[in-house]
Amino acid sequence: MRYREFLRKKIGNRFPENVPVPSGFQIVGHVALLQLHDGLGEFAQLIAEVTMEFDHRIRSVAVKTDPTTGIMRKPGYRLVAGDSNTVTEHVEGGVVFRLDPLRLTFSAGNVAERMRLSNIIERDEMIVDMFACVGQFSLHIAKKTRSRVVAIEINPEAHRFLVENIKLNGVEDRMQALLGDCRKIHPVNEANRVILGYLHNTFEYLPYALKSLRKDGGYVHLHAALPKRDIPEAGNTINTIALEQGFDTEFSVREVKHYSPGIEHYVFDIHATPIRTW
Ligand SMILES: C[S@@+](CC[C@H](N)C(=O)[O-])C[C@H]1O[C@@H](n2cnc3c(N)ncnc32)[C@H](O)[C@@H]1O
Repeated sequence: MRYREFLRKKIGNRFPENVPVPSGFQIVGHVALLQLHDGLGEFAQLIAEVTMEFDHRIRSVAVKTDPTTGIMRKPGYRLVAGDSNTVTEHVEGGVVFRLDPLRLTFSAGNVAERMRLSNIIERDEMIVDMFACVGQFSLHIAKKTRSRVVAIEINPEAHRFLVENIKLNGVEDRMQALLGDCRKIHPVNEANRVILGYLHNTFEYLPYALKSLRKDGGYVHLHAALPKRDIPEAGNTINTIALEQGFDTEFSVREVKHYSPGIEHYVFDIHATPIRTW
């Protein structure tokens, strides 16, 4: 039975009229994350308890209370039912992620992009992940490709989980976690691929990503949230920044997910080559 029908069956006509009953939730390990319409606030506890009955994996249920904020992308959730220990282990494509989803973002909408990226990377690459969080991109890559990955994270709490996750996934021999601002501590002239998995002013970080690339160039995967009509302008910005760093660029763009009204989350796959001097 589908979740919405299950809720209707269990809570039935106690739901107010004209307020949409939730159609689903995100599950991260044993934690279910729910987004409720305003009119359902007083039903949060009841919905949470019924949600735990719906799926035996769920032991904690939290409801979104506030938007995700700050450079560390702190999500706004309130635990409404179940186990107050929300540190959990989430398995995705054979990779284990230990994290607290009430304190760190773990986007369900990016799963396909995490898989795609780890599938196009070959063995023995050298990759810098400049916004690593708990290893969403890096761990898939390190585990599947045996490439070397330097993962940079500014939030000490996310960095602690990142360090644990490297051990949990047995990739200590090829993955390293650095704590700090990626603009200051990125490797220089070393990578053949850099990931900029961050959606706020990402273009400001592109010069540092290009400094991380080897002199003979490579790829940068730059994520950005923008209206479709702004893609050509974003392309011009990429070219201008790359020229300043000594690279010519070609790029293709893919939509990762819907972000907000009129705005999509895109990834620019940028191929950077040294500017020809003849
Ligand atoms: C929204 S998460 C994205 C994680 C992952 N890249 C993904 O796309 O799923 C962005 C992460 O970048 C980190 N961050 C923000 N500014 C940073 C900086 N200047 N240097 C390193 N990490 C940074 C945040 O703390 C957060 O953990």
